[in-house]
Amino acid sequence: MKIVFLKDLKADEVIAKDIYNEEGKLLITAGTKVGRGSISFLKRNNVFLVHIEDEKLSDIKVDKKLEKLKTKTLTKMPLIFNNILTGEYKNTMEAMETVDELVDYIVDKGTVNTNLYEVKLYDDYTYIHCLDTGIMAAFLGLSMGLNTARIKDLSIAAMLHDIGKTKIPSEIINKKEKLTDQEYAIIKNHPAYGRDILNSIGMLSEEVIDGVFNHHERYDGSGYPRGLKGNEISQFGRIISICDVFTAVSANRSYRLRFKPNEAYELILSGSGSMFDPDFVDEFRNTFFIYPLGSCVRLSNGVEGYVVKQNKSFPDRPVIRVIYEKDKANSISPYEIDLLQHNDIIIEEVI
Ligand SMILES: [Fe+2]
Repeated sequence: MKIVFLKDLKADEVIAKDIYNEEGKLLITAGTKVGRGSISFLKRNNVFLVHIEDEKLSDIKVDKKLEKLKTKTLTKMPLIFNNILTGEYKNTMEAMETVDELVDYIVDKGTVNTNLYEVKLYDDYTYIHCLDTGIMAAFLGLSMGLNTARIKDLSIAAMLHDIGKTKIPSEIINKKEKLTDQEYAIIKNHPAYGRDILNSIGMLSEEVIDGVFNHHERYDGSGYPRGLKGNEISQFGRIISICDVFTAVSANRSYRLRFKPNEAYELILSGSGSMFDPDFVDEFRNTFFIYPLGSCVRLSNGVEGYVVKQNKSFPDRPVIRVIYEKDKANSISPYEIDLLQHNDIIIEEVI
């Protein structure tokens, strides 16, 4: 399996992973052979990255079970949100059982292939965004050693963190220009609205509600609504803030023009101790890799290849299978470079 930009997708290639639109509707299933029609169909749906099968990279596999569970959870997301907002609490808890299943899988598997741009393929605020934030939080919670019940709660809080925004006028939420001070003050109410909405269900734990209420607090006290500092901010709040900022920053950049997966990642690292709890940023570093398996990169020594293996705790130093060298066109036989063993070589860009 490898990852290609839509502009590089060719007819007759085989899709390796289900493709969704921004609302989470299935567009093309894995195993489908690409035709001309499907390329323009994907373009119309704003898809810009696709996973395709590749013989030379047949050892890299999509985690089909995880994909299935993500799809199942995604289809329940509108139900979860609508039920909470209309007070249908019994159905809400039923819909949330899929979150349980998803977290159980993540916990059972131990290390799932945690690649950041796998978690963030679209740039609009959608159910996919909520789901991705929830999955990211589950991975972080797992590597921090939380027990399964708490990881489930954390994941639910992360999925619902912005539910309070449903109480903010959509003109303000969707405004493209800079917000006035007054509008910004209104936006700042959304963590408290979220707390109130979730409180009214009466079935979620204090920790879930507090995580939502605290997700805009910052480690150095510069956040809102209360300007809490350090450990005054709940653990869930400190974890969700990292996941939320990561996905928000990814969304604000135009992936379609140029994709630089290291930028949002570095922003999180640079916020260590100011925006974020430094211990949790270390966990972030140990949990997520920058370059996903199957992505094509150019190295500083001029060669190009695919990421085929990760090195734990070294998010930017994976193993690369080189398939191209300058001046040698297609004639080289593939070989691997472990960037952990070659400190003089860096990844220059994703191509
Ligand atoms: Fe928020």
